[in-house]
Amino acid sequence: MCGIIGYVGKKECSRFLVDGLKRLEYRGYDSSGIAISRNDQSNFEVRKAEGKIERLEIALRNSPIQGAIGLGHTRWATHGKPNTINAHPHRAGTTVLVHNGIIENFESIREELLARGASIVSETDSELFGHLVEEELKKTATFEEAVRLSFLKLEGSCSIVVVNDRFPGKIVAVRTGTPLVVSRSQKADGCFVASDAQAIVEHTDEVTYLEPRDLVVCTQSEFKIFPIDKKISPENEIKRSATKLDWKMADFDKAGFPHFMLKEIHEQPRAILDTLDLLIERDTMRARMEEIGALVQRASKIQIIACGTAWHAGLVGKYLLESVARVPVEVDLASEYRYRDPVIDEHTLVLAVSQSGETADTLAALREAKRKGAMTAAICNVRGSSMPREVAATLFTAAGPEIGVASTKAFTTQILVFMMLGQFLAHARGVKTKAPDVHFFLQLPHQVQSALELAPLVQKISESCLQSRGYLYIARGRLFPIALEGALKMKEISYVHAEGYPAGELKHGPIAMVESNMTVVVLAPRDELYEKTMSNLQEVKARGGRIVAVGDHDDFSLQKLSDHFIGMRFAHDWSDSILATIPMQLLAYYTAVLKGTDVDKPRNLAKSVTVE
Ligand code: G6P
Repeated sequence: MCGIIGYVGKKECSRFLVDGLKRLEYRGYDSSGIAISRNDQSNFEVRKAEGKIERLEIALRNSPIQGAIGLGHTRWATHGKPNTINAHPHRAGTTVLVHNGIIENFESIREELLARGASIVSETDSELFGHLVEEELKKTATFEEAVRLSFLKLEGSCSIVVVNDRFPGKIVAVRTGTPLVVSRSQKADGCFVASDAQAIVEHTDEVTYLEPRDLVVCTQSEFKIFPIDKKISPENEIKRSATKLDWKMADFDKAGFPHFMLKEIHEQPRAILDTLDLLIERDTMRARMEEIGALVQRASKIQIIACGTAWHAGLVGKYLLESVARVPVEVDLASEYRYRDPVIDEHTLVLAVSQSGETADTLAALREAKRKGAMTAAICNVRGSSMPREVAATLFTAAGPEIGVASTKAFTTQILVFMMLGQFLAHARGVKTKAPDVHFFLQLPHQVQSALELAPLVQKISESCLQSRGYLYIARGRLFPIALEGALKMKEISYVHAEGYPAGELKHGPIAMVESNMTVVVLAPRDELYEKTMSNLQEVKARGGRIVAVGDHDDFSLQKLSDHFIGMRFAHDWSDSILATIPMQLLAYYTAVLKGTDVDKPRNLAKSVTVE
């Protein structure tokens, strides 16, 4: 989950590296560092700092380094504390490297290196790779071959980018599991390698995604890709096509909002519209879902796998798909699925949901399902990422780059995809259901826009509830996953204890926590379960809990029962999951701002979790 960037070219690169790291900070922000060789001939100099990139910038102001070849890294600690010694880049002899992922056999490598007299400075698994390269360089003529042979000694899933004092003008990078892109930039007159295209988007409009077990050699004028399992020679070179980036620089700007998260919350009407544009054939007003639709038609069951917020979208998906496709749908956390030995056959459709398309657990679960013969598909926000490249069919969300660590617009667009898929299946199967017409979906951006107008009200409610000991989020049916999502958002960014519960389960335990200092957030539109939820709410009221209710704007009974009421215009059962999400996001956001946390980069978290 760490972020990596490297540049070799003709231009001064310190700024390229630091700006790239800022865009990669979502991957981790425990510490950061850069290494640059001053004039392409002298030894690499390293600067590191504990904490966020601003600290590295201060270190660089105090002690600048300039040069046209360098590496940068932002860390999410796995092995060893987040301090300067453990920060990357690491140096071993003449080798300098940055690393993302985990070297699983690091204990044995460390012992062997120590026994051979290596002097190891940090507690990391990463540094060990530098020592392996140094040993290999004593036996091997070329730098890239030394990197390749060293990499073959590693177990685990990672990417490593290496430079060496004795081989100026060259960056060698290897990838097994965690992603790497490479690009030759005209504008910057050089080659870049990075964990994510975001890091280099201002220098190039196309990138080449490395495949697992690729090795790339970058020089100022070109990059060449080779398979890691064969000796590096011209006849083994691999040609991979480049992918065009359709991002705008404005996607990486806060556009006047105090935080990316708030900007992204407000971008939801646009994200939904763009996703609809991808999914709907405007001439016929039919959903473009033939490929995935055909897989569902062949499926005797669907297994949805995901992590975090994407898992909550999967839970909403279960309600929607089962009700129309009448195919059993299971939803699993990918980290559990991959180890629970699920029943899979060729009639099982495994559907991964992921914003990034790179989450390690989801990817591993997907590969396991594929290995066992399942059909595979994905809902994903990043073209060119690993998941879409490994499945038979992908439905893309068009949320655009999501920078805030807490997922917002990716979530609502994932739900939208499930809604559209449900609608498509209902149509394809002639199922008589309450599935709305496609035209209905086109109203959604306006409905979400109206929901966003509730922001000042939700801000006031956040203030009133700020001293709460904790938050309980309750709902039923399709809205239960939204209660889970509301609680997750609150935990992630305001560090307050929050739990999502099915309203009917309250009496089986959590109601014991209800007292005047406990805020109970209830989602209760007037649907078929409304009366049941109202009874649960009465139980909360009787115990003195503070009630924040989200309901229909004209529901005066609910309003009377609650301490704070958020009235919404729910237009159709299917869309209430998206609409009810908006106040959940805003409540967490304003609470976090009032508590003074780092909203976009909450402590201990990272956006793209590429380690198990
Ligand atoms: C991390 C992020 C979450 C995200 C989850 C899954 O935990 O902090 O916001 O929901 O990963 O990520 P994915 O990219 O697979 O949707």
